[in-house]
Amino acid sequence: MKWHIVHLTTVTSTNDYAKEIAEDVPEGTVVWADIQIKGRGRWGREWYSPKGGLWFSVILKPPMVQVIPHVVFIGALAVVDVLSEYGLEGKIKWPNDVLIHDKKIAGVLVEGKANSYVIIGIGINVNNEPPNTEEYEAISMKEELGREILIEEVLRKILRRLSYWYSLLTSGRIADITAQVRKKNALAGREVLVFWGDGKFESGKVLDIEEDGSLKVLLKNGQIRRLVFGEVSLRSMKTLNSPMIYPSW
Ligand code: ATP
Ligand code: BTN
Repeated sequence: MKWHIVHLTTVTSTNDYAKEIAEDVPEGTVVWADIQIKGRGRWGREWYSPKGGLWFSVILKPPMVQVIPHVVFIGALAVVDVLSEYGLEGKIKWPNDVLIHDKKIAGVLVEGKANSYVIIGIGINVNNEPPNTEEYEAISMKEELGREILIEEVLRKILRRLSYWYSLLTSGRIADITAQVRKKNALAGREVLVFWGDGKFESGKVLDIEEDGSLKVLLKNGQIRRLVFGEVSLRSMKTLNSPMIYPSW
């Protein structure tokens, strides 16, 4: 992939900026900002994006729509690969977060327009102070490594790994992608709370990640359910500070 980087100092959200230009620019355009004043996570949650972190969005135009459910995974896998280049072991909290020792270091937000474009927004705590969230702890590369990291170097490395995973995606090698996500599954065998979006939640145990990208969970009532990532929010029992905190939708 030939990447073309647009570097901005401050933006509302790189995903919003990318959406505005997506239809007029070639695939491979990357919007990178030093600061986001309205960084977003899933369900419109706030994503803390001060100077010192890496906040960027990549515009892709995959030829087939059926690859879309796996796009979030290639973002998370690229982050995990690059963390390992720095000697850090990242794990994927299905479907879109990357954790180090159960602390959140990065998040991926995929948005798009059917038959037109897909935007992979990636946020990584590099040298910034990570936020203390109500729900669980966050961490940065600097905190883990005890030194400042060159942000642009992290970006370049991620784009390199993203090219690799994107080439697997567009050549139909979905099984290779899910196999790697399975290997890096932070929740394997763990107790989780599944929030259904209608105000209800249940506890269960994570069994596996399926080839279609869904998460197989054994609920307390004995039912096995395959969770699709647009529908649920998960909290790991161990990392949760207070199980009664309901995520804002
Ligand atoms: P799920 O995606 O399963 O609903 P989640 O808690 O990871 O769970 P997301 O929407 O993926 O939710 O991420 C948004 C959350 O990430 C915010 O509510 C906040 O708690 C946390 N957060 C915000 N900014 C950062 C940051 N820079 N680093 C780490 N965590 C952050
Ligand atoms: C999440 O964990 O819910 C995903 C967080 C995604 C954050 C990145 S930072 C770059 C891009 N722009 C945004 O507003 N969000 C994503």
